[in-house]
Amino acid sequence: MFPVFSLFRKKTTPVDGTFSMLATDMHSHLVPGIDDGAKDLQNSLDLIKRLSQLGFKRIITTPHVRPEYFPNTRETILSGFETLKAALSANRSEIELGVAAEYFVDFEFMEYLEKEKLLTFSGGKVLIETSTIAAPPNFQDIIFQLRLSGYQPVLAHPERYLHMDLKTFQKLKELGCQFQVNLMSLAGHYGSKVKKHADLLIQNQLVDYFGTDCHNTQHTQVLAEIANDAKLVRKILDCQPQNSDLGLT
Ligand SMILES: [Fe+2]
Repeated sequence: MFPVFSLFRKKTTPVDGTFSMLATDMHSHLVPGIDDGAKDLQNSLDLIKRLSQLGFKRIITTPHVRPEYFPNTRETILSGFETLKAALSANRSEIELGVAAEYFVDFEFMEYLEKEKLLTFSGGKVLIETSTIAAPPNFQDIIFQLRLSGYQPVLAHPERYLHMDLKTFQKLKELGCQFQVNLMSLAGHYGSKVKKHADLLIQNQLVDYFGTDCHNTQHTQVLAEIANDAKLVRKILDCQPQNSDLGLT
């Protein structure tokens, strides 16, 4: 007989322990030895294997570009990427790997933008980040200028910027900035305030993409826990993220 209590049971989301519903990750640090992500080629290959086991079919990896800490250039990034791609194909990996960058936006970024051609993905998208302490006073002008220059800015982990409130997020959206929330923020990996800020973005339907921001093996373990958490998976699906539409170039 059909048990009565099952009629009142809460609808649960089936989980398979993966992020296959996202298909594409567009934020990670997997080029070996050029930022605070993968330490060497073996570490890169191991992290990519783990991300692939987590259901990602396509990965656009995004090394830091931040002059005083990670003075990467197009050349350092592209040459490291080529080495990694060659190793992947020697290992017969089926993952589709692309590369862009995560640009740190400070007051001087406007000058950088005038001089440099930025590394993009999926038709001109540029991943940017800023300080968790304060955004530069010209941050909105920079977003505007990026758009004028033909780029589509995607702000990495807006939830980590506790100095930004809902009004600021909405203003950035109006200026044409897209938002990528870190999956690990949903589980409180960066603290409860960041988790709450992620919920604010979610509740206001401001999330365009989720990203792993994977730097190391510990991150892949946190990600695996999230992929197995039905409540968090439901939360991700409810945002209708556009990850699967993203192309490598
Ligand atoms: Fe990052």
